[in-house]
Amino acid sequence: MPKVVFIERDGNQKEVEAPVGLSLLEIAHRNDVDIEGACEGSLACSTCHVIIDDKWFKRLSEPSEDEEDMLDLAFDLQRTSRLGCQIVMTEELDGLTVRLPGDTRNMLLE
Ligand code: FES
Repeated sequence: MPKVVFIERDGNQKEVEAPVGLSLLEIAHRNDVDIEGACEGSLACSTCHVIIDDKWFKRLSEPSEDEEDMLDLAFDLQRTSRLGCQIVMTEELDGLTVRLPGDTRNMLLE
């Protein structure tokens, strides 16, 4: 079974099982990872925003135009930002590492 590593807002790394065919959003929900996903994957929000680890970003398929439009509205947008509901797990993505947005900004406020 492939694995995904979520880096949570407090820096905690959570490695979880990631069944092929499930989206990152679904995997997060199954494992109590705090990604909202308000529209449940219908590309109508940006609350499933995740930041992909640099070395993995290139291996993902290109985002659709709709995804890019939604991403523009996301909080803490980064160069490697994607919407978690649009990334579907495959065997090749075993070890995929993604960070939840928000921690950088919190750090700056401290
Ligand atoms: S859950 Fe709304 S766009 Fe992904």
